[in-house]
Amino acid sequence: MKFEDVKKALDKDLVEITDINKLNDLKVKYLGKKGIITELNSEIRNVPNEEKKEFGMKVNELRNRFNEFFDSTKEKIEQEELNKRLENEAIDISLPSTKIPVGAPNILEKLIEEVEELFMSMGYDVVDGPEIEEDKYNFEMLNIPKGHPARDAQDTFYIEGEEILLRSQTSPVQVRTMLKGEGKVPIRMICPGKTYRRDDDDASHSHNFMQIEGLLVDKDISLSDLKGTMDILFKRLFGENVETRFRPSYYQFTEPSVEVDITCVNCHGKGCSVCKKTGWVTVVGAGVVHPNVLRMSGYDPDKWSGFAFGFGAERLAMMKYDINDIRTFYNADLREVKTFDREDEE
Ligand code: DAH
Repeated sequence: MKFEDVKKALDKDLVEITDINKLNDLKVKYLGKKGIITELNSEIRNVPNEEKKEFGMKVNELRNRFNEFFDSTKEKIEQEELNKRLENEAIDISLPSTKIPVGAPNILEKLIEEVEELFMSMGYDVVDGPEIEEDKYNFEMLNIPKGHPARDAQDTFYIEGEEILLRSQTSPVQVRTMLKGEGKVPIRMICPGKTYRRDDDDASHSHNFMQIEGLLVDKDISLSDLKGTMDILFKRLFGENVETRFRPSYYQFTEPSVEVDITCVNCHGKGCSVCKKTGWVTVVGAGVVHPNVLRMSGYDPDKWSGFAFGFGAERLAMMKYDINDIRTFYNADLREVKTFDREDEE
């Protein structure tokens, strides 16, 4: 190709280019292996010697011209692309944010924590005990000897023979705590924990449920201390207007034993279907610790006395949050958790 033709073609091609691919194509067209300028350069062989120098300079000029064009256009295109990207990526901080779902506390856990906090503020320790328990602690040392009919009532899950079982109540933790206390007073403990019974699951029964156990051992502890404590607990959970009452009952590990009723939180004592028109619901089993239990656990019943109580946490949570099926706590439906969470915030 003639020098003049190349120059003409170049003038025609070096117009505004906004596309990096087209620019690269152009580079191939002029400076590639078989590019126009490359080929022109190889023609230097055929140029007479005295013209070689000038020819070479002219080819260089064309090459430089192309390179300058190439560099500046490339920079322009890249800058434009960057501007465009920055514009698209700009963050409008005035836009409302997307809601990121966060977990909500389990309402049963919330109720238990509320109870724990209250009792801790009164000097109680929150303790733990094993869910896989020995017959000795679950029954024997609670004054329920082998063969005693009270054992049947609890429909226990046995694991190994008759000695190892899933605890049917949190009361064995009373015994364990007293044994650890080695006869020293005061003992003030609550123990929230899982318990198991061979119940058929329905709206008000679950084979696995949470109990909260309480025990206080000191000098001259009586039923009236228990009454005061129950009053504080239920006023805290359900409001100042809630009242408690004791009804005589029977447990092997307390004497006397009582059931604690509270005024129905649904109808405030007027009578409704929740309280079966009585105005009261039974929520706790309790009493004064039986002398046999104290003695077996290393406390002299002539010197010390105590009260104990135990209640189902789900029952209270159901009343507090107006839930009518105990299985709600165990079916892990997040929508339900959310509902209660929102109610609580209001
Ligand atoms: N453990 C009993 C139950 O599961 C509840 C209970 C009654 C606990 C009387 C106590 C108590 O500590 O004194 O039915």
